[in-house]
Amino acid sequence: MANTEIPLVVRDLHKQFNDTPVLEGLSLEAHEGDVITLIGASGSGKSTFLRCMNLLEVPDAGEVIVHGEPVAFQTRRGKREPADWRQVERIRARLSMVFQGFNLWAHMTLIGNVIEAPRHVLGLSKREAHERGMALLERVGLADRAGYFPAQLSGGQQQRGAIARALAMEPEVLLFDEPTSALDPELVGDVLKVMRELADEGRTMVVVTHEMDFARDVASQVMYLHAGRVEEAGPPSEVLVNPESARLQQFLGPRF
Ligand SMILES: Nc1ncnc2c1ncn2[C@@H]1O[C@H](COP(=O)(O)OP(=O)(O)OP(=O)(O)O)[C@@H](O)[C@H]1O
Ligand SMILES: [Mg+2]
Repeated sequence: MANTEIPLVVRDLHKQFNDTPVLEGLSLEAHEGDVITLIGASGSGKSTFLRCMNLLEVPDAGEVIVHGEPVAFQTRRGKREPADWRQVERIRARLSMVFQGFNLWAHMTLIGNVIEAPRHVLGLSKREAHERGMALLERVGLADRAGYFPAQLSGGQQQRGAIARALAMEPEVLLFDEPTSALDPELVGDVLKVMRELADEGRTMVVVTHEMDFARDVASQVMYLHAGRVEEAGPPSEVLVNPESARLQQFLGPRF
């Protein structure tokens, strides 16, 4: 497949913080409809990898290519940075991110959160943004909470609202960083259900998660990271069922 048709290609990313290497050559290809899950111990680089994909962190080396468009970098005063911040904005709109801590804007209602970027970045009219926003809230089961502020919503509702907000940008790829790990156990199911529906719809997703059932059932590929490298990767039926790496066996628990 030509690069231009692949929603997200990441090649050989390297990243250091304070001279400590955190990513040591990570690559990934998310084809249309792929659900790639990133697993690994705390500190293995999962969030940093994801944040480099939409330039919340700037990789020291390596390429990020969104539907054939490579992110342009330049080096200034010895530091690598994006060459064109407008391009970064455009790329971020195409790769919407859902965070562990929801990150809804506290001073805006739920529907306000959902329509903000479509109005200002996509340039939709208030009416159109509102109609589409309400349809998205309906999809995540929150139409009756549209006028609530984030503080008036449960964690699970906030996270489903954050997913609606991400979808409102009509992204080509959805990036999730442990979307359920800040939730009380009884609220996890509703969020995972929405994510499963998105996967069933054929959305392209990259998901950092500790939810092994989700990874096993939904992922097209599982990547196990250790110390900034891919230790093992493949379909969940192999990686999660017959892991080769002793470290991954240990990570997955006593069954292995
Ligand atoms: N902004 C930063 N400045 C300095 N070090 C950082 C920064 N962000 C991450 N790190 C370090 O990089 C390493 C990888 O962090 P990262 O957040 O990517 O791990 P993770 O796999 O997402 O872990 P967790 O499962 O705990 O979320 C850690 O050692 C962390 O301390
Ligand atoms: Mg993390």
